[in-house]
Amino acid sequence: NRQSKIRNFCIIAHIDHGKSTLADRLIEKTGLLTKREMKEQILDNMDLERERGITIKLQATRLVYNKNGEEYILNLIDTPGHVDFTYEVSRSLEACEGAILVVDASQGVEAQTLANVYLAVDQDLEIIPVINKIDLPSARPDEVKREIEDVVGIEAGYAPLISAKEGLNTEQVLDAIVEYVPKPEGDENAPLKALIFDSFYDSYKGAVAYVRIKEGAVKDGDEIMMMSSGKKFEVNEVGYFSPGPRPVDELKAGDVGYITASIKDVKNCRVGDTITKADNPCDKALPGYKKATPMVYCGIYPAEGEKFENIRDALEKLQLNDAALEFEPETSVALGFGFRCGFLGLLHMEIIQQRLDREFDLDIITTSPGVIYKVTKTNGEVLMIQNPSNLPEQSEIEYMEEPVVDARIMIPNEYVGNVMELCQERRGNMINMEYIDDRRLILNYELPLNEVIYDFFDALKSKTRGYGSLDYEFKEYVKSKLEKLDILLNKEVIDAFSLIVHESKAYSRGRMICDRLKEVIPRHMFAIPVQASIGNKVIARETIKALRKDVLSKCYGGDISRKRKLLEKQKEGKKKMRQLGSVEVPQEAFLSVLKYD
Ligand code: GTP
Repeated sequence: NRQSKIRNFCIIAHIDHGKSTLADRLIEKTGLLTKREMKEQILDNMDLERERGITIKLQATRLVYNKNGEEYILNLIDTPGHVDFTYEVSRSLEACEGAILVVDASQGVEAQTLANVYLAVDQDLEIIPVINKIDLPSARPDEVKREIEDVVGIEAGYAPLISAKEGLNTEQVLDAIVEYVPKPEGDENAPLKALIFDSFYDSYKGAVAYVRIKEGAVKDGDEIMMMSSGKKFEVNEVGYFSPGPRPVDELKAGDVGYITASIKDVKNCRVGDTITKADNPCDKALPGYKKATPMVYCGIYPAEGEKFENIRDALEKLQLNDAALEFEPETSVALGFGFRCGFLGLLHMEIIQQRLDREFDLDIITTSPGVIYKVTKTNGEVLMIQNPSNLPEQSEIEYMEEPVVDARIMIPNEYVGNVMELCQERRGNMINMEYIDDRRLILNYELPLNEVIYDFFDALKSKTRGYGSLDYEFKEYVKSKLEKLDILLNKEVIDAFSLIVHESKAYSRGRMICDRLKEVIPRHMFAIPVQASIGNKVIARETIKALRKDVLSKCYGGDISRKRKLLEKQKEGKKKMRQLGSVEVPQEAFLSVLKYD
């Protein structure tokens, strides 16, 4: 039967353990142009791509593998590799029957690997361990095998030992997929039930849904319906990627492929949703549909000389491809017109900031990231506050709550003291400690998200010499003593610097920010007080002294080139200045207040 020749699998790995390299190798072994070659070719058309505002995502690739004269279809489904995208990962896994777990032979198992492995285990996937990078002199495959057995709790004795880079033993991986990944089982004659595990926007075709057909079949001309919204669309193409798009007549139960139906907006094509047929719908959607909800917010404003409209256009384009990105216009007294943007997490935020910079070449200022606070007012009203400027007066607040996450931190034993100290300092609540082996352990902590987004990851890395890894998920809202910290420059509150902080942190944060600003803001013709305040109470203060008129006196009579350099430096600095009230502030000031040490 048809399905007995299909295997749907994904690759799970910690960042840098070699997922992409192995995927390339598998694609190459089965005779296709590799994804990277594809991407390179596509990237050559980058300008075109930019113009059209699309990003090429190669999210599922069909491989054909011959084993003992039998032809197998292996659908390789890509999973995003970071904690912010846990839900997307879980949907990708849902599209598979098996997962290859790539573990670096010298690094061993890491926290993010585990998070994804647990997801795969939860979904009953068959997990096939593969030990990569055995070409490295520091490889310790036997130990890593034992580690996988101890930590992950799966048999690892048979794990292929490979070097994805050198192509060593990679066909063993293909054999293992055919042998151990279960075949799909779904009724082809049942009503259509297709899982959307990813989607992207193409300006010609509209939203393209990556789907796993669980039951039934779908073809050109069918009228489909999104189970979450009831919205209907007419299919105009179905196919699969190999790795470029290949249209086919029909996709059937067990298949992985894509559907296009002139869907104008990725918001109508949500990851996790179930597609069925309008005239013969299935009775129940696939379980687990969840709308992505942003957890972290920040303001994005045009830097000096940048246009508000350009940022809006760019955000709109990014949103076409990213249903989790939210934004709405907001105004800041200090920065003028801009946007409040919502992200799944810090990484998501960084990705968007980078894309605005690199792909759209925009000059932006981002304000401090914050989370959503729940504020109960004395009159009983409950507000969800994401912008510190919208916080009601202290006298109107009955109490405030903040989001707390469950964090799993994996570290080598010797850093346990450092990391516990860090978590303590970040108001963490230790749940427990699990030993993995004689070298490493996992710390489970409850941490306020507010503390995690504030440079926690970098602090963890520096306290563990880069060996610590972190994974977290939202747990609950808890009551907390929070305050709004304002920063004043020359006696004016600069709203873009305002933050909501825990009362125990107010003084130290306030002092630190004043300190930083004093360092980065150049002297003016007048002295500038830099103050931090809570309510109307000033809790920290620095002064930027007035400029002495003789900036150039240092190079008096001396070397002229040095003088010119100094002037040029000042000019350059000038370009990146932002006028806040009466004070000129360099853009780096906005970044520098975010950093911890
Ligand atoms: P992300 O794309 O960042 O998630 O990483 P990844 O897990 O996909 O890793 P990737 O395939 O990009 O490989 C990470 C690094 O490890 C690259 O520099 C690879 O060249 C290298 N690498 C991958 N496989 C091997 C291997 O078998 N041996 C050695 N020595 N290096 C490898």
